[in-house]
Amino acid sequence: MNRLLRVFVTGGAGYIGTHTCVELLNAGYEVVVYDNFSNSNAEALKRVEKITGKKVSLILGDIRDEALMTESMSGCDAVIHFAGLKAVGESVEKPLEYYDNNVQGTLCLLRAMEANSIHSLVFSSSATVYGDPEYLPLNESHPLRTTNPYGTTKLVIEGILRDLYRSNPLWKIMILRYFNPVGAHKSGLIGEDPQGIPNNLMPFVAQVAIGRREALNVFGGDYPTHDGTGVRDYIHVVDLAVGHIKALEALESPQCRAVNLGTGIGYSVLDVVNAFVQASGKSIPYVIAPRREGDIAACYADPSYAREILGWSASYNLADMCRDTWYFQSKNPEGYLLS
Ligand code: NAD
Ligand code: WQD
Repeated sequence: MNRLLRVFVTGGAGYIGTHTCVELLNAGYEVVVYDNFSNSNAEALKRVEKITGKKVSLILGDIRDEALMTESMSGCDAVIHFAGLKAVGESVEKPLEYYDNNVQGTLCLLRAMEANSIHSLVFSSSATVYGDPEYLPLNESHPLRTTNPYGTTKLVIEGILRDLYRSNPLWKIMILRYFNPVGAHKSGLIGEDPQGIPNNLMPFVAQVAIGRREALNVFGGDYPTHDGTGVRDYIHVVDLAVGHIKALEALESPQCRAVNLGTGIGYSVLDVVNAFVQASGKSIPYVIAPRREGDIAACYADPSYAREILGWSASYNLADMCRDTWYFQSKNPEGYLLS
């Protein structure tokens, strides 16, 4: 039986949150989702219930509403903190919104946890905290620096969590640094449903394949990589979700540590396009466009610490990621609300 029974999941209606709720419920945990639906909707949680046959308790609220959060997390044993804004370009235009939502929201969350004597936390960080890599693969001791306000919010929060642990060693904190989450649950019921033009590669490719967009702009064809296009460590969202269960289970004793969640394998933009053509049977027209500002040539994880600390490693490959993205896209051509 799990020692931590009831988990408070901020941002649980979002892309990674919904997949993690499925794994939590399947593993026997109770789930309380706290979300303001700023980038999600209730339909996604109904689908979590459909997949698992179990109930999700939902509280509609903002993480900056400390009083509501303090009341809402009463009776919970642990927190998984996904809630936050995540668009890099938007963070450059609206830095104050990003610091307010992500940093201020996290401060409110931590105070609400203290008020409830809850000290077990899993936090969503990002490989963006490594900045432009000095070496590859990236291990957790790589220097930390950021190139945009979104990334800085993650770095600031990581620092706050380390200080908090130093101040009170009752805390049990796992910081998970995700690489590039893609894919969807195999049911085709939940997946990534970006609003407007997708910022990220995989959802853009999926929308080209389904005919919602004409062609993919490949940002840069002259990087020092095997085919000149940018290389990333794509990780299936279900592998990522399972990593959160492993992280919760690893919070037996007081600690504050950061762990990479990636596969350790780098694929280029054109590798992804080719794999998606194979998975979907559709053609994906593309043009080589100028580099996107702030992009790096290559980024992939050294995943060995996750294996050591969490007993976790990724099990899905790029073909699986494309197959499951395509299945979700085909079943929900216009996203959750219109499918
Ligand atoms: P998402 O936007 O799908 O989910 C985030 C959820 O948080 C949404 O449901 C949104 O409505 C909610 N939310 C945002 N601000 C809130 C607030 N103030 N109060 C309450 N709820 C709020 O994003 P995701 O891809 O599922 O990402 C989850 C977390 O993982 C984020 O913290 C993100 O920064 C981090 N992360 C994501 C990626 C990625 O590529 N998807 C990579 C690294 C890290
Ligand atoms: C992947 C590759 C692009 C779109 C971002 C955030 C990071 C993290 C994950 C949250 C790059 C290329 C993309 C397109 C393209 N998020 N590309 N055409 O930039 O590695 O990471 O999401 O924490 O912080 O920065 O992911 O999917 O945007 O790009 O050619 O239309 O695809 O240049 O090489 P990225 P991405």
